[in-house]
Amino acid sequence: MKAQIALVTGGTGGIGTAICRHLHDKEIRVISGYSRGGDNSYALKWQDEQQKEGYQFDVIYGNVSNFDSCAAMIDEVITKYGKIDILVNNAGITQDATLKKMLPDQWSEVLRVNLDSVFNVTQQVIHGMIERGFGRIINISSINGQKGQFGQTNYSAAKAGMHGFTKALAQEVASKGVTVNTVSPGYVATDMVKKMSAAVLDKIITQIPAGRLAEPSEIGHVVAFLASEASGYITGANIAINGGQHMY
Ligand code: CAA
Ligand code: NAP
Repeated sequence: MKAQIALVTGGTGGIGTAICRHLHDKEIRVISGYSRGGDNSYALKWQDEQQKEGYQFDVIYGNVSNFDSCAAMIDEVITKYGKIDILVNNAGITQDATLKKMLPDQWSEVLRVNLDSVFNVTQQVIHGMIERGFGRIINISSINGQKGQFGQTNYSAAKAGMHGFTKALAQEVASKGVTVNTVSPGYVATDMVKKMSAAVLDKIITQIPAGRLAEPSEIGHVVAFLASEASGYITGANIAINGGQHMY
């Protein structure tokens, strides 16, 4: 068994897959969370495809918006691997609408999956990290949590909240060898962005100085950097990866 164990929520998604691969490249044993209403067929297919390309990952069910489901997920990982050294809170969704049209469910679902999830999972791994004197927690936020975005009051609030969580927890565990950081990608070429109308997306791309979407691998690279033992003095930071779209 490899020395370090990482759990990546939403690991079978676009950015998640790249994160899993970059961690694997650093000799870390990676477990990917999935949900899909408990249907494991997509995750098993993903696992098989990754294996054919030389990446060996475990997959585990967990609905990150539900505390008890996360408890079962963490228990299963601990039973099998004994510990979690690296946690990447990556699972997320969008349900875009202007506030005047936004339904209560669109608000609460986005807050539950993007923000409550960070509590639901992290609260259950933090004890072990503190006991062992080592941990890396990386929260995947968004440029839109930093600058706000038309049509995303729900998502922008949730993603901004993630970094508040990061800064508070970073202070609580800095002396215990545990770092907590946020990564805030700009627009990345995944299914989440492909869901947008082409007209809206094209307009957004014109506002990106780099002139293109990010590749998922460009996010995975930074996550693996933050996860490394050598990054132990970086904590409470929010690393923007947005091609220059938002500088502050
Ligand atoms: N700024 C100002 N006004 C805007 C605008 C903008 N960016 N976009 C639309 N409007 C205006 C329209 O011109 C229109 O004006 P009039 O009423 O005067 O004609 C009005 O707003 C339309 O308002 P509606 O409530 O009817 O909006 P809609 O239902 O047509 O569209 C929306 C709403 C689907 C949310 C659309 O605005 C949209 O797709 N916005 C982009 C959201 C976005 O960036 N999502 C990112 C998803 S990926 C992701 O989130 C990953 C990540 O982290 C980066
Ligand atoms: P994606 O391909 O749609 O992946 C989203 C992942 O989240 C999926 O693997 C999905 O797993 C998981 N997920 C959704 N709801 C879940 C739940 N209730 N429980 C457990 N897992 C759940 O999107 P992505 O672009 O890779 O996004 C990954 C993260 O990056 C998100 O947090 C997103 O907000 C953030 N982000 C994305 C962009 C971008 O432009 N793409 C930019 C900035 C930040 P299942 O399919 O198994 O449910």
